[in-house]
Amino acid sequence: MAQNNNTDVHSFAQPQKAYITHLNLNLEADFDNKILKGKATLEYKNIAQTSQIHLDTRDLDILQITQNNQPIKFQLTEPKEYLGQALIIDINPQLNQGTLTIEYQTHPQAAALQWLTPEQTAGKKNPFLFTQSQAILARTWVPCQDSPGIRFTYTATIKTPKNLMAVMSAQNPQIKNSEGIYQFEMKQPIPAYLLALAIGDFEFAPLGERTGVYAENNTLEKAKYEFAELENMLQLAEKLYGKYEWERYDLIVLPPSFPFGGMENPRITFATPTIIAEDRSLISLVAHELAHSWSGNLVTNATWNDFWINEGFTVYFERRIMEAMMGKSYAEMLAYLGYQDLLHTLELFGKDNPDTRLKLDLKDRDPDEGVSEIAYEKGYFFLITLEKKVGRPKFDAFLHQYFQKNAFQGMDTEKFLEYLKKELPETQTIDLNAWIYQPGLPSNFALTLPERFIEVEKQLKKWKNGTPPEKLNTQQWTTHEWLHFIEQLPAEISTDELEKLDQQFKFSQSGNAEIITQWLQITLPLSYTPAFAPAENFLMNVGRRKFLVPIYKAMLKTEQGTQKAKEIYQKARKNYHSVATNTLDKLILEQQR
Ligand code: BES
Ligand code: ZN
Repeated sequence: MAQNNNTDVHSFAQPQKAYITHLNLNLEADFDNKILKGKATLEYKNIAQTSQIHLDTRDLDILQITQNNQPIKFQLTEPKEYLGQALIIDINPQLNQGTLTIEYQTHPQAAALQWLTPEQTAGKKNPFLFTQSQAILARTWVPCQDSPGIRFTYTATIKTPKNLMAVMSAQNPQIKNSEGIYQFEMKQPIPAYLLALAIGDFEFAPLGERTGVYAENNTLEKAKYEFAELENMLQLAEKLYGKYEWERYDLIVLPPSFPFGGMENPRITFATPTIIAEDRSLISLVAHELAHSWSGNLVTNATWNDFWINEGFTVYFERRIMEAMMGKSYAEMLAYLGYQDLLHTLELFGKDNPDTRLKLDLKDRDPDEGVSEIAYEKGYFFLITLEKKVGRPKFDAFLHQYFQKNAFQGMDTEKFLEYLKKELPETQTIDLNAWIYQPGLPSNFALTLPERFIEVEKQLKKWKNGTPPEKLNTQQWTTHEWLHFIEQLPAEISTDELEKLDQQFKFSQSGNAEIITQWLQITLPLSYTPAFAPAENFLMNVGRRKFLVPIYKAMLKTEQGTQKAKEIYQKARKNYHSVATNTLDKLILEQQR
């Protein structure tokens, strides 16, 4: 495997000298002490007769390192914020490959791990553990080369308390075993950020031949209903861009503190329970994570500066799956909502902000700071621009081949641009430089309002002209029409009017996490008191950062709300994953932005 991370500023690895090719993990989960402990055995190649191999670690206790059962010398460099410590291990410069075994354990506060008490799960009876390795948190639970440009295969043995089950981003069990010992194998080489583990009291239900869902017992039925289309989605995806390379595609519904909507761990997407809307209206998120099986997991951003290579392509692919499944008018709504999000982000960041460039510069910063709508939506609209230029059939053929030719490899922005020039020379008349290396959006870019939103805005206009909510024509609307409706409500709106809308459309009581978040975003800054209780309830129970941030921000806009936000955060903070508290501490405790 060609390894290339010379330019990865977020890893201590030096793969041009020595890189790992296989990992064998043997870990036991100690729920009482909140630690994982055991061994990581690494196979490596030494391609430069080097006498040391460099790994990434953060907050790990390294107990011993051996080679052929002999202890070998190692050193840990001074800890650096978010990067952790380089683990530098002496190896034989004469041998071009080798194996070493690292005995270690994790810290209870390891950033990738969230150890949940029984009360923090749906079933309330058993504890739960899950990992979140992207972007550079794998190093907080496995000593490894934690750079997206370095790939390795892995095997694992995980020991769990006897009544719990373990799954990993690998071939997975479908039933519990009585010893609490689970074996895993990932045959395809993956980057470290796709290492994943979840342990809990969950069960498996098949959905199709290659697809299924894991969830806690009391969520399983709902999950089966919500994700019934999974097999169909997988087939539609393959029809678009080629064979699914990971054999099975399962989903696990995690407890609500999971900080993301979804995480594309290979073979098993980790998902927030907030996508269970009971009407399948939020499954584009599943299409998104599934699409990463190609864009991201097969063709992988070489560094976090190229994050749009993962997310922009994935949003494009996601919307193509949704279009194939639900029709053009549905996909148009998704794209338009994405466009609105992009415009908001551009406004918030400022149009000249370097972080609004597709190619990021995250040197000396936590790569988490690069996670914004820019990679997703500006990336998406860039690809749409390419599609428009060459026509869909040609663009589809291009993408199909792109995934095939670059499978299991890293892709940086420049390599992509070269590939594009070679394969689709007609695209060279586009201002590629503006899209990739300049902030903001190219000035000639705009999106027209899709038909279904024209209809929404018609109803909005009627309402503004005095038609009462119950007389509006909204019967056929789906979640996405509602999102646009709420988003387009005027900034100045009386409590009385909000109450009437709420009474008719039950926004404050909505079980749909997207709708309630959108509603709270509008109503909290207006000090609409009936929104406070549902906001508190939501914030106490959900840990998904994408919702927490706008809701807290909306509260922070008034004095009374700020007070409330601080109170709630104090109580809720312990329920959140470190990924979320990292962002929220800055927002609420340190009062930035
Ligand atoms: N891979 C991302 C999540 C991620 C990004 C984790 C960066 C850590 C660092 C995942 O595929 C994703 O994009 N999730 C989105 C959902 C999506 C539909 C936009 C989310 O969690 O909201
Ligand atoms: Zn994604």
